[in-house]
Amino acid sequence: MVSNGKGGVLKTSLAANLAGLAALSGWRVLAVDLDPQGNLASDLGVLDRSDGGEGLLRAVADGVPLAPLTAVRPGLDLVAGGPRTSDLTGHLSRAALTGQFVHGWLDRALAPLAGAYNLVLFDCPPGEALIHTLALTAAHYVLIPTQPDLASIHGLGAVFARLLDVRSTTNANVEVLGVVVGPVGTQSTAIVRDTRAKLAEVLGESVAVFDPTIRLAQAAAVHCRERGLLAHEYEAAAGTAAPWWKRRDCKEPQPSFSSAAAGLAEDYQRLAEAILGAFSARQHELAATIGVA
Ligand SMILES: Nc1ncnc2c1ncn2[C@@H]1O[C@H](COP(=O)(O)OP(=O)(O)OP(=O)(O)O)[C@@H](O)[C@H]1O
Ligand SMILES: [Mg+2]
Repeated sequence: MVSNGKGGVLKTSLAANLAGLAALSGWRVLAVDLDPQGNLASDLGVLDRSDGGEGLLRAVADGVPLAPLTAVRPGLDLVAGGPRTSDLTGHLSRAALTGQFVHGWLDRALAPLAGAYNLVLFDCPPGEALIHTLALTAAHYVLIPTQPDLASIHGLGAVFARLLDVRSTTNANVEVLGVVVGPVGTQSTAIVRDTRAKLAEVLGESVAVFDPTIRLAQAAAVHCRERGLLAHEYEAAAGTAAPWWKRRDCKEPQPSFSSAAAGLAEDYQRLAEAILGAFSARQHELAATIGVA
């Protein structure tokens, strides 16, 4: 799961790009949007196919079988989020008041599907404590994106506190896979170094902070979301776009591209390689511990 208690820290951008790149490299991936904002469908360019979280609500609350949007990309399916996810929170709160064990309901909804995928990725909302607890109860690993500012790092501390609580109650297996730093200026090496030091203070040395960071590239990020393109797709589109002096003469307005397209795509590729590598290494370690070949 991708999570940070603070808003606007790249959770959805990271979830979308990681899901897309894992699928591109041959993994079967299910992305699950747990956020009432429903941004993951926009980032993946399938907002017109989104049910606004209705399927997720019915599956989690009523046990109706989940039917993800298929072939969002080759190898990538999506459970869309949206306004109906807010209704889910209300429903869960009411059910919890009647003494039902709601924390395991997301896990229960996904269990019949999970075997068909190599990776199931949750994009979490910034608030919504109950949704976070459901996600932590279903997840094996937590990825925490953070910006260098203290508020984001404190938001991350809140995720960590909830994780420790869930570990001692509903899911002893959940662990932090690592922290992702971004967006940061490409020249900001001192800021990145200080951020790593602050993170070590908050989380302890044992929590990994991934080496690759995501660069600050606001125009590219805005274009990607508007056009439903992942960073590597945006880079490819930029590579085939007509140069600006030819675009000038076109009657129809032509999309523009940021000069950061290639750099942003490369950042996500390096980061995805590091994250999927850490995920696979940890899976092998755990398999060896319990004696599975
Ligand atoms: N590399 C980048 N450089 C600069 N801005 C970026 C970059 N990537 C994304 N953004 C911008 O940052 C904002 C937040 O990104 P994103 O939606 O991924 O964060 P989030 O943590 O999912 O937010 P929320 O808490 O609202 O769900 C968006 O407006 C997006 O355009
Ligand atoms: Mg988001």
